[in-house]
Amino acid sequence: MGIVYRSWQFWQALLASPSVDELEFVHTILTPQEYNLFVQMHSGEQAHSLKVMHRLIKNNHRDPELLAAALLHDIGKINQPLHLWERVWLVLGNTFFPGLVSRWLRNSEMDVKSMDKYRRVFVIHRLHPEWGARLAQEAGAKSLCVNLIRRHHDRISPKADTFEDRLLHYLQEADNLS
Ligand SMILES: [Fe+2]
Ligand SMILES: [Fe+2]
Repeated sequence: MGIVYRSWQFWQALLASPSVDELEFVHTILTPQEYNLFVQMHSGEQAHSLKVMHRLIKNNHRDPELLAAALLHDIGKINQPLHLWERVWLVLGNTFFPGLVSRWLRNSEMDVKSMDKYRRVFVIHRLHPEWGARLAQEAGAKSLCVNLIRRHHDRISPKADTFEDRLLHYLQEADNLS
């Protein structure tokens, strides 16, 4: 995905926030406990998650667990919210220094508290699917939804063709375009 599109996505996510009507709609998809998680996200992340969900609905993918996962896929980010400069650095690092970033992630001890601030951002990003899956599970989300959140940045093997894999593919496609 190109740098221009990524940057556009980034500023969109930073500035957007969901309307009252959209939040009402979220209420119809999520349980009250899941909704309480959703509203803890940065408003830009809420708007992004809504876009992912609307894209799925537009493409006729309406499985309730898939739609809940669309709304909650990035929920793990509430564990360690990033500052503006960190979000900028995340996009720049992944775009211009992917080799350095993957070296950092390989050699990382994954303890975000003691890590230097430049590396920490990428480790937080790496861990947010697992954190999110745990939060969703604690909020009572169904296991299919929890698995989709946990796997939302995983590469799907071309041979994988379970129902969950197919939903994951739709979720990743919508996430990448939103
Ligand atoms: Fe994510
Ligand atoms: Fe996302």
